[in-house]
Amino acid sequence: MKIVCVVGARPNFVKAAPVVETLRKNPSVTVKLVHTGQHYDREMSELFFEQLGLPRPDVNLDVGSGSHGEQTGTILIRLEPVLVAEKPDLVMVFGDVNSTVAAALCAVKLGIKVAHVESGLRSFDRSMPEEINRILTDQVSDILFTTEPSARENLIREGISDEKIFFVGNTMVDSLLKHRARAESLQVRTQFGLERGRYGVLTLHRPASVDNSRTLGEILAAVSELGKEFPIVFPCHPRTRERLRQFDWTHADSRRVLVIEPLGYLEFISLMAEARIVLTDSGGIQEETTVLGIPCITLRDNTERPVTVTEGTNLIAGCRIERILAEAETVLRSPVPKARTPEKWDGKAAERVAQVLSEALNMNVTGLAVASGWN
Ligand code: UD1
Repeated sequence: MKIVCVVGARPNFVKAAPVVETLRKNPSVTVKLVHTGQHYDREMSELFFEQLGLPRPDVNLDVGSGSHGEQTGTILIRLEPVLVAEKPDLVMVFGDVNSTVAAALCAVKLGIKVAHVESGLRSFDRSMPEEINRILTDQVSDILFTTEPSARENLIREGISDEKIFFVGNTMVDSLLKHRARAESLQVRTQFGLERGRYGVLTLHRPASVDNSRTLGEILAAVSELGKEFPIVFPCHPRTRERLRQFDWTHADSRRVLVIEPLGYLEFISLMAEARIVLTDSGGIQEETTVLGIPCITLRDNTERPVTVTEGTNLIAGCRIERILAEAETVLRSPVPKARTPEKWDGKAAERVAQVLSEALNMNVTGLAVASGWN
């Protein structure tokens, strides 16, 4: 069996690493790794490959940045000859970034089966580019691996047949549990003179949070206010740094908000694991804070990961200053929550993925074996 795994952006690397590692242990499986090049800065890409133990990509499509159409279209054009030459039985895609939908579409148009890791998450907010990527990817996928129970319900509602859906758990959590001890031993907070449990961490990168000066201004005003109580470290995504420059963010309290370069995977986990609070618009960080037992304030009006709210440490606060401060105050007045682990977030999701694929091979689940000639 030949499987092409396609990755492109930071969170893809974290989700794919345990799957690639597990699949490679099976001598009857050949795994090829394609990097679209959506993320290309060393600290957004190469460093993640090194720290997660991902092998060097067999192919790099070097698509770089661009508008959504440009990025998606370039991946389609550059991936097609690779898939034609490799003739894989299956293409695996991860998460919800532009590289995910582009690779899935490219494969299905060539008649190649698609497996999607992290299927079925829905924010029900179609203004999010990721929501469109999720819906389209799931519609063309043959095997849909889910991370939490809500995902199956969403997929069934969208007409996906139940037998294609496999609740395997969360491969991002596999990576977290594998690397947690190594990350924590780094004690990255000490580089910034911070005490354990006495600082916050902020991340922001979504267009909805950073492209509008009023929204970004409200978030930063709230964070600056919190910064009066304790320092906030802000590893800054390149897109956000550009917006800070454009909007000329020179708020007086910015001294309490330490804007730094994006961190490597291990460094970021280390910083988060010892924080008192995390504020973010990221999806994956909502899941990681749940497992780490660190309170998370999500700076969005919705989440596609409801299990982090019902079972984890996540509070949905939106982007308005009063609400952010009110939620943060609730967190800071409450005892530190115990880490809780949603069902199947146990470090074994990639093993379940591999198991499902080998059963698909042997038992013709979803018609995969016949269609791709695996028998
Ligand atoms: C992408 C994903 C988002 C994911 C995020 C993780 C889409 C639509 N968005 O957002 O879901 O949460 O990755 O980080 O796929 N840039 C650099 N260096 C890089 C990469 C990007 O400087 O290595 C800058 C460029 O100016 C680029 C901008 O960041 O235009 C945005 O990058 P892009 O990959 O389009 O989206 P992200 O915001 O990173």
